[in-house]
Amino acid sequence: MKVLGIMGSPRIKGNTDLLLDEALRGAQSQGAEVEKLVADKLNIAPCREYSRCLKDGNCAIRDDMDDIYPKLLDADRVIVASPIFFYGLTSQVKALIDRSQAIWARKYVLKQNLPDSGRKGAFIAVGATRGEKLFDGSILTVKYFFKTIGVKYVDELLIPGVDKKGEIKEHPTALSDALELGRRLAQI
Ligand SMILES: Cc1cc2nc3c(=O)[nH]c(=O)nc-3n(C[C@H](O)[C@H](O)[C@H](O)COP(=O)(O)O)c2cc1C
Repeated sequence: MKVLGIMGSPRIKGNTDLLLDEALRGAQSQGAEVEKLVADKLNIAPCREYSRCLKDGNCAIRDDMDDIYPKLLDADRVIVASPIFFYGLTSQVKALIDRSQAIWARKYVLKQNLPDSGRKGAFIAVGATRGEKLFDGSILTVKYFFKTIGVKYVDELLIPGVDKKGEIKEHPTALSDALELGRRLAQI
């Protein structure tokens, strides 16, 4: 089983990064092969609406997405992890998600069959405040991203009230919950 983790924070060893590492460690403990993509370290241009993908399912832009498309379609499990920035995902991970419009085009415009049998995904998010709707917008985005790439949204870990770099280590349960999420995801 291949588990792909997409790390959306620009802060290496920050809260999201630490949570995702734990989740991937949990998956690994169940025998999964894991890979982590750090969106901020990759060259991923935002979608420019060239609309070439609507014609043949391929994006007109040549950058690191060339290697990421097959990974998105090949992974058995996908974990998106992001801090909340202005009630949404970070622009780094949103750029990757928007560029999956090429996969959307293959599926919904060109009616190609994409691998989706049994593929599952989870969302990990952390935000500083505790507002009731803190994660709502991001959950919708991740659900629609997963639907596009043929992955079922099955699990989430949403941590409010964590702000400073590494503060997640002081949280009573978050890191062990992330480990457990990774284990669960690799078992189902
Ligand atoms: C540009 C920016 C926007 C943010 N917007 C929000 C927000 O809308 N709501 C919130 O609760 N926290 C917000 N935060 C705080 C981060 O979500 C919080 O610091 C988080 O712990 C960062 O996680 P990281 O260490 O993984 O990057 C924002 C932080 C930044 C830098």
